[in-house]
Amino acid sequence: MALVNTRKMFEMAYKNGYAVGAFNVNNMEITQGIMAAVAEEKAPVILQVSRGAREYAKNSYLRAIIDVVVAENPDIPVAINLDHGDNFETCKQFVDDGFTSIMIDGSHLPFKDNIAVTKKVCEYAHPREVVVEAELGQLGGIEEDVVGVEDVAKHIADPDQAVEFVEKSGCDSLAVACGTSHGAYKFKSEPKLAFDVLQEIGERLPGFPLVMHGSSSVLKEFVDLINKYGGAMPNAMGVPEEAVTKASKMAICKVNIDTDLRMALTAKIRQVFAEKPGEFDPRKYLGPGREAIKAMVKHKLHVLGCAGKAAECS
Ligand code: G3H
Ligand code: 13P
Ligand code: ZN
Repeated sequence: MALVNTRKMFEMAYKNGYAVGAFNVNNMEITQGIMAAVAEEKAPVILQVSRGAREYAKNSYLRAIIDVVVAENPDIPVAINLDHGDNFETCKQFVDDGFTSIMIDGSHLPFKDNIAVTKKVCEYAHPREVVVEAELGQLGGIEEDVVGVEDVAKHIADPDQAVEFVEKSGCDSLAVACGTSHGAYKFKSEPKLAFDVLQEIGERLPGFPLVMHGSSSVLKEFVDLINKYGGAMPNAMGVPEEAVTKASKMAICKVNIDTDLRMALTAKIRQVFAEKPGEFDPRKYLGPGREAIKAMVKHKLHVLGCAGKAAECS
């Protein structure tokens, strides 16, 4: 199967109460680990490329890797998404480059300007069969001025604005800030998501797919390995997997995961270096990292409920 956009995936995810995993790709091992997992679990998948990934690996290299894994997995619907596109020109470029999904993140802009830039991206993308994700409210991490849960809580998406935004912008899906943030330090004490806001937005936009960013769970297994083998990630905390499952059964149709991939890879590399200080063959530490990513993603596909759903999304 060639690359697909997310329309069918979201239609099925919404109808059947699951979410599709959107995993960030930064190199070959990460991409292979994700694809090996979705192939074994027969799950649809969204691979996404951030600005940081492009600066690190160059989009042309990442595209070449993605094209290979798509060709090798003809039964798996794969969408490729620009993660956090920050202006019209960047979004246009990625539509022209053959991405099937574009995120325009105008969440830092005044409400009206966010609508205007999203509408402009939709007008360019839609005739080319490319879908558009927008963002409302603000998350921590990327939106650098928002730090910690207290601040994040002040930036939760407003349901009235969400309805107006979707109607006026024409976007295909909406990332709604609901208390999550990017990275490994999402909560200072008890994790808390604004499920009431998700519920209300879901009810007021029936059939419309929502997106949850900052959805990594910061798995204990990897925090412990990292800390055991010379790392220092005290107080790392993510979104509990029960909360991710709960959101996936609501209107959330796309769940973004990057940090958990990074931590799986890092944990395994640290373990190999600690146990075999003489190791200098990258294949001997990147290989176990790739395996850890595969196992972690396989597990996530069940948390999201999208394992076994490849055929119905095709
Ligand atoms: O959206 C956040 C992702 O984790 C991407 O982060 O720009 O450092 O690759 P990055
Ligand atoms: P995490 O940092 O929780 O993995 O979130 C990633 C993300 O939202 C990418 O857009
Ligand atoms: Zn994000």
